[in-house]
Amino acid sequence: MSDAAVMPSKETIPMSTGLEQEDRKELAALLEKALADTYVLYTKTQGVHWNITGPMFYGVHKMTQEIYEDLALSIDELAERIRAVGYLAPTKLGRFLELSDIDETGHEPNAVKMVEALARDHQCVARTLREAIHEAEKLDDVFTADMLTGRIGKHEQYAWMLRAVASKP
Ligand SMILES: [Fe+2]
Repeated sequence: MSDAAVMPSKETIPMSTGLEQEDRKELAALLEKALADTYVLYTKTQGVHWNITGPMFYGVHKMTQEIYEDLALSIDELAERIRAVGYLAPTKLGRFLELSDIDETGHEPNAVKMVEALARDHQCVARTLREAIHEAEKLDDVFTADMLTGRIGKHEQYAWMLRAVASKP
């Protein structure tokens, strides 16, 4: 893959923290995928925050702000972890879209469907992260495994909150 994880070229001290170079490349790719999913979901969550209408407006508007602010923090952490394992963080939106499993949606006028879509997306990210954690553990990257484990908890929490909001009365 031509856009695969890129190593910085000007560092003078070899990286030596106990992770193998080949493993670090795989870890950077796992993190890049997690970053891409989080980035696309961040944008999609803002779309719901802005465009939600109807009786659910206030609750969903507030909840989506809480969620996208947390996703923004995670985006930064994931990108910086890619740097810490020795690779450059991706910067192209097209790359995020290419890597992410999150469907971009256009304007969806139905509030319940908007919320249900976000719930499914958080569940999708939780599943992807679970696989990434197994890989990170195999490569002995305990920090990445721990970071992604924390993220699963958040995505499961948001999926629950969104499912609850979209439930039938
Ligand atoms: Fe806002």
